[in-house]
Amino acid sequence: MSQTRDVANHYLFEVATEVANRVGGIYSVIKSKAQVTTAEYGSAYTLLGPLNRASAAVEVEELEIKDPPLKATVEAMNERGIQTLYGRWLIDGAPRVLLFDTSTAYGYLDEWKGDLWSVAGIPSPPGDAETNEAIVFGYLIAWFLGEFVYHEKQRAVVAQFHEWLAGVAIPLCKKRRIDVTTIFTTHATLLGRYLCAGSVDFYNNLQWFDVDAEAGKRGIYHRYCIERGAAHSADVFTTVSHITAYESEHLLKRKPDGVLPNGLNVKKFSATHEFQNLHETAKHRIHDFVRGHFYGHNNFDLENTLYFFTAGRYEYRNKGVDMFIESLARLNHRMKSANSPMTVVAFIIMPAQTHSLTVEALRGQAVIKSLHDSVRVIEQNVGKRLFERSLSWHEGSDLPEDKDLISPADKIMLRRRLFAMKRNSLPPIVTHNMVNDSDDPILNQIRRCQLFNHPSDRVKIVFHPEFLNSGNPVLPMDYDDFVRGTHMGVFSSYYEPWGYTPAECTVMGVPSITTNLSGFGCYMEELIENASDYGIYIVDRRTKGVDDSVNQLADFMFEFAKKSRRQRINQRNRTERLSDLLDWKRMGMEYVKARQLALRRAYPDSFDGEAEPDFFGSAEVKISRPLSEPGSPRDRSGMMTPGDFASLQEGREGLSTEDYIAWKLPDEEDPDEYPFPLTL
Ligand code: UDP
Ligand code: G6P
Ligand code: GLC
Repeated sequence: MSQTRDVANHYLFEVATEVANRVGGIYSVIKSKAQVTTAEYGSAYTLLGPLNRASAAVEVEELEIKDPPLKATVEAMNERGIQTLYGRWLIDGAPRVLLFDTSTAYGYLDEWKGDLWSVAGIPSPPGDAETNEAIVFGYLIAWFLGEFVYHEKQRAVVAQFHEWLAGVAIPLCKKRRIDVTTIFTTHATLLGRYLCAGSVDFYNNLQWFDVDAEAGKRGIYHRYCIERGAAHSADVFTTVSHITAYESEHLLKRKPDGVLPNGLNVKKFSATHEFQNLHETAKHRIHDFVRGHFYGHNNFDLENTLYFFTAGRYEYRNKGVDMFIESLARLNHRMKSANSPMTVVAFIIMPAQTHSLTVEALRGQAVIKSLHDSVRVIEQNVGKRLFERSLSWHEGSDLPEDKDLISPADKIMLRRRLFAMKRNSLPPIVTHNMVNDSDDPILNQIRRCQLFNHPSDRVKIVFHPEFLNSGNPVLPMDYDDFVRGTHMGVFSSYYEPWGYTPAECTVMGVPSITTNLSGFGCYMEELIENASDYGIYIVDRRTKGVDDSVNQLADFMFEFAKKSRRQRINQRNRTERLSDLLDWKRMGMEYVKARQLALRRAYPDSFDGEAEPDFFGSAEVKISRPLSEPGSPRDRSGMMTPGDFASLQEGREGLSTEDYIAWKLPDEEDPDEYPFPLTL
């Protein structure tokens, strides 16, 4: 590689399939991180992704390319028939994105597949559309990077790739000796996801899996090769949590150089109670939905109703929906036996294949809306009559009786509405017509547990098999607003490299339950001693048997349901105060370290030949805080890093120990060991 490139003033490209295109958590990573990365790099930062026209039309504003090497590179590709879209992603930080229309490159597919086999030994059987897409995208990225460093000869280039779908370019960069330095960040492993979704005791057997055979049995050997090839050819290999680092070491056979935990773009309100008010407003919108969904069965008091939910991609076992439903059944039983005055409505938000919203779900909302409208008309009529009667009042005459105020016509209108609310069936579980109703694992589990929304049930269930959006006629709310309106998120995952959903709850001040098999759960457990006081409940799925974990989850929910409103408000305040721990301003430091390491490895001479420091986890590289600047989590200006527990410990001002967090000092541990030994 060239030794002359300017490393201090380098370009950064981040490559992912979810650029301006929401699929799951990777979109959340790059979107929420954009603000800190553009603050650091300005126009030297560009996100590269495949073009999804529908989503780009909404999320991206097209711009002309100004940067000369970038312009020359894109023009060269356009001349050869590759269509691209360059623009500003309309999100906080407004990063520049360059999206490649992969359909304009499929003419090269066979040639590229052959090349991938000959240069990297990666097979690609016919008929796997997702892999074909990854190959075409990967070759376009390698082409782009090769062309770019031809036009830009001065400055160094860091290319960071997220997940295997974006990883094909990495072995190509290595083979072609393209003068860039690469980081591969995996957000899961393919085998991990597949093995966990089956009935394998994954964590106890991680070291023993015959990876090639397991991948072969599941028909994903070629995908596995891409993932492993990317992990091994990257200059720096990272993942999002220690638990996935451990998994990667065993399944991908390379120990990650570091862990880059996921952050969020934390927005603070000027009034600290603003988020509590938002909860109240959003909760009332959920009440509106519930009134409609349970019409004819509104025999529970919404003032004493708690909203629990789980949400994410439909991975029944990995996302722990099996455990959630089983625990809800136990919770129902316990609440009934204890004569609890509370009702829990549990929402499951997981996209499945559906035909449409059900007539019943639409009807529920319509019936309640008509009731509402009619009551408003009656209210106005009553008001008018009361006013007129009052005008003609004189001393000695009576005030009008209530019955005189509602006219027979009003009564008929009201009776009509009330009859429309009669229902012979129980309120439905699911809001949509499912394509596979009788085979759906969530529905079948609900059937097995007999959670049928019976009036005597203290736990009711609503399965919404589509992501939320405010344009939906039945539950017209965006996901964030919905989360704010709930009381608790429950994410009892079995396989969860990070898990954005509980982290998002935290920054919105909503308590959540997660597990010690999720990256987020482990991270918070490591950081906070009495996590449950702060609304972070962590179910032990590692050392307990399934039945005990289910009981622990049911216990958490039962205890939560016993809290008074005042206790819930206090707990939400404590939860929200944890947000600073998850802010990219702090978490982003690990990305900075990864890029530094990548530059050092590619251009050691630019670092005066110094030995590589232990970027991730050694005490010397922690950026220490001036003593005058307390390490309180309330202080977001400091340069605390996620590994920097020691400086967090220094907190004095604003960190009152009885009210806040008892920070743990880092264990004196063998650096070769992961802090989460899973060999049970
Ligand atoms: N999500 C969403 N709409 C919904 C439910 C979930 O946009 O109705 C988002 C949620 O905000 C989160 C992402 O889906 O950022 C899921 O990410 P996570 O890391 O929890 O899981 P992944 O899908 O990546 O495995
Ligand atoms: C927020 C609001 C309060 C409201 C409370 C309800 O704190 O600011 O006005 O009483 O939410 O809390 P709950 O847990 O019952 O939804
Ligand atoms: C993956 C994981 C999820 C993680 C996300 C972002 O999709 O399943 O746990 O939060 O990536 O890193």
